[in-house]
Amino acid sequence: MTERRSWAEPWKIKMVEHLRMTTREERLAAIKEAGYNTFLLKSRDVYIDLLTDSGTNAMSDRQWAGMMLGDEAYAGSRNFYHLEKAIQDYYSYKYLVPTHQGRGAEHLISQTIIKDGDYIPGNMYFTTTRLHQELAGGTFVDIIIDEAHDTENEFPFKGNVDLAKLQALIDKVGVERIPYVAIATAVNMAGGQPISMANLKEVRKLTQKYNIPIVHDMTRVAENAWFIKIREEGYSSKSVAEIVYEICTLTDHATMSAKKDPIVNIGGFLATNDEDIYRKAQNMVVVYEGLHTYGGMAGRDMEAVAIGIAESVQDDHIRARVGQTQYLGEKLLEFGVPIVLPIGSHGVFIDAKKFLPNLEQDLLPAQTLAAEIYIEGGIRTMERGIVSGGRNKDTGEHNRPKLELVRVTLPRRVYTQSHMDVTAESIADVYARRDSIKGLRFTYEPDYLRFFQARFEPID
Ligand code: F0G
Repeated sequence: MTERRSWAEPWKIKMVEHLRMTTREERLAAIKEAGYNTFLLKSRDVYIDLLTDSGTNAMSDRQWAGMMLGDEAYAGSRNFYHLEKAIQDYYSYKYLVPTHQGRGAEHLISQTIIKDGDYIPGNMYFTTTRLHQELAGGTFVDIIIDEAHDTENEFPFKGNVDLAKLQALIDKVGVERIPYVAIATAVNMAGGQPISMANLKEVRKLTQKYNIPIVHDMTRVAENAWFIKIREEGYSSKSVAEIVYEICTLTDHATMSAKKDPIVNIGGFLATNDEDIYRKAQNMVVVYEGLHTYGGMAGRDMEAVAIGIAESVQDDHIRARVGQTQYLGEKLLEFGVPIVLPIGSHGVFIDAKKFLPNLEQDLLPAQTLAAEIYIEGGIRTMERGIVSGGRNKDTGEHNRPKLELVRVTLPRRVYTQSHMDVTAESIADVYARRDSIKGLRFTYEPDYLRFFQARFEPID
C-alpha cells in the first residue's frame, strides 16, 4: 500500500465570511486606540484573527442543523438530555450541570469544594481557573514538571505532573488542606502541551492513596488524546475517542469550556461522578447561571455542543486540527522564529524573551510583540506572559511567570493553509526588524484578569 504523503482537512467549505485588509496607517491608529492591547481591537480591523480558539470555531452543517432542533423549553429541554448522553457516552461522567462557558463551571466547582486556606495543586495555572480558586479562598500551587517552563526542552509530555512536588505539598500542608488536584489536558499556558496517560495514572494512584479527588479541566482533552496516540507507547492503535474516554475515567469531576474542543461558539459544563457534588452544583447553578437543565445555554446551543463532542473525537478531525498547528509552527521555525517546542495543539507560542532579548520582562515583551504582529499584517494574537500572570494576591507584586509568550491560536476549521503562510511571513517580517522594537508600560490596570482590559503606551 502506498503511504499517503500529505493529508487534507476532512471537510470542505460551504459558506464564507469576507475579510477586510487594512493599511499600515489604519492599523497603527487602531492599535493606539486599543491601548496596545489586542483584546481591545475591533474585530473589523483584524485580518486574520488568531487571538484565541475559544468560541471562534466553524460549526459543521450537522451542528447548524442541530440548532434548528433547539427545544427552548425553560425546563427539561430535550437538548439537555442529548447533551447529558453525549457526556456519559464520550466522557464517562455520570452527571451534567450545564453552564454558559468554562468559567461558570470553574466558579461552581471552586465554591462547592474549596474552603478558606486550602491549597489547590495543578499542572500549571490557567487565568480564570486560578482566579476562581482564589475567590473561593484557595491558593494555587504549580506542580507541573520543570521541563514545562523551558521553551526549548522537547520532552513530549510537558503537561506532566511532578509527583515529588505533589507529595511535598501533601507533606507540607496536610491532606485536609487539599480539596482536589487540578489536572488540565493539553495544558494551555504551557503551550498546548499534553499530559501522558502513564503520568495521569501515577497521579491517580497517589491521590487515591490520600483520597484526594481530581478535577479535570477537559477543555482540550481530544487534542491531548491525539498526542497520546502518536507519542505514547501502547496507544497508536487506539482511537482518539477511546483515549479521551480513558483519560476521563481517571478523574472525578470535570470543567469544560465547550468553546474549544466541542467546536461551538458558546457553552460549557461541569460534569461529575459524585452525586453529592452534583446536587450542590445543581443547586448553585440556579443562582448564577440558569435552571439546571440549561445553565445559561439556549437549547439549540446544547444541541450544537452534543453534536460537536462527537465530531471532536474523530481521528480525522483531530489529525487535521493539530496538523494545522504543526504546519504553522514548522513554517515559523524555518524563518528562525523562536517558539515553544514541541509545537503544541491549539496554537504556536512564540518565545518573546528570545524574540526580543533586549526587553526585560518589566517592559512587557510579549504584550509588545503581539501589538507589533498586529501592526505588521493585521494578525491578532495574544499575550501570555507577565501581563496575563497578574499580581500576587497577598503581596500585590507582579507574578513573574518564567514563560513570556505570544500565543498564535488557531480556531477550528476556520482558516486555510494560505492563511497560515501569510501569518508566518508576517511574523518573520517582525522578526527581521526586532532590534528596533521598544517596550510598553501600563496606563490602566483593572483588578481582575487584567490582560483582557489593561491599556498601555509605548516607551520611547
Ligand atoms: N480552562 C482552559 C484551559 C481554558 O483555556 C479556558 C479558556 C477556560 C478554562 C475558561 O473557559 O473561556 O469558556 O470561560 N480559554 C480561553 C483562551 C479564554 O483563549 O485560551 P471559558
